[in-house]
Amino acid sequence: MAWRRTDRPVSKKRISDADLWRTDLMCPAMTQERFTGRKALVTGAASGIGRCTALRLAAEGADVWGVDVNAEALAAVEADAAELVGTLRTAAGDISTEAGVQAIVSGAVDALGGLDVVVNVAGVLSFGHAHETTLDEWNRLITINLTGTFLMCREALPHLLSAKGNIVNVASTAAHAGQPWALAYTASKGGVLAMTRELAVEYAKSGVRCNSVSPGAIDTPITASFHVPEGADPKLIQRVMPLGAFGTPEGIAAAIAFIASEEASHMNGADIRMDGATLS
Ligand SMILES: NC(=O)c1ccc[n+]([C@@H]2O[C@H](COP(=O)([O-])OP(=O)(O)OC[C@H]3O[C@@H](n4cnc5c(N)ncnc54)[C@H](O)[C@@H]3O)[C@@H](O)[C@H]2O)c1
Repeated sequence: MAWRRTDRPVSKKRISDADLWRTDLMCPAMTQERFTGRKALVTGAASGIGRCTALRLAAEGADVWGVDVNAEALAAVEADAAELVGTLRTAAGDISTEAGVQAIVSGAVDALGGLDVVVNVAGVLSFGHAHETTLDEWNRLITINLTGTFLMCREALPHLLSAKGNIVNVASTAAHAGQPWALAYTASKGGVLAMTRELAVEYAKSGVRCNSVSPGAIDTPITASFHVPEGADPKLIQRVMPLGAFGTPEGIAAAIAFIASEEASHMNGADIRMDGATLS
């Protein structure tokens, strides 16, 4: 019920996933339209946290450019945004190559006329024993999660500098505490966290902010890839399980929207950990 406006009669009808983004059903905090007139680029927009972030920013008035390697799923996300006050347009894009990222950023700038916000959500995860991690698998995760985020930041920065915009990177609790069976993933997210702080310091005086959010276990398709490798110590399982319920991608999107908004103008180089106290 918290998502509904208080000046409307509350219907007993269950709020569908699509209805979550209807501004006439949203709570007052969401109808502030904090992003009216602002231009946002979101990677990983076809699914999970990226999808919810793209919809959330568009629901608050932004003109959003959402990219993902999964072009097919992007069409459905655009359709979900049809009734929002902002706009959401999408394009296929791959953050794993320099040319791919250059095409993503120039496509976004051409379509939107500039960039105020960049949210780096796209990422991949895999599980296995550290001593069995192949170089190919290490390179795949580091390339997408860390190098892809670096390239996105580098290519977007000239545009963000002229707009005094900001970057939100998605790290992970795996960047903060040892998480077994995810060596490359953990290293990539540790790098994202460190890179976020570096950028915040280097560009603070230029008016560009860079922050991150570190989700714990969130109910998205990526968590379906979780499995305990054969012969693993079962005592370690609790280190990758949430303390209570799984978090929601909508909750992470709400945190990202706050970080990217002017309300967080003094937040720079920070990380918001959203893990239901799992690491506390
Ligand atoms: N779900 C969790 O429990 C959790 C926890 C901590 C961190 N995260 C991070 O959140 C981010 C989003 O994950 P999610 O949970 O929404 O998973 P998800 O699988 O639902 O979404 C990830 C999206 O990234 C896209 N993607 C993958 N490789 C890409 C590439 N090369 N170029 C462009 N897009 C690409 C995928 O197609 C997918 O749509 C990831 O960076 C992930 O590491 C998730």
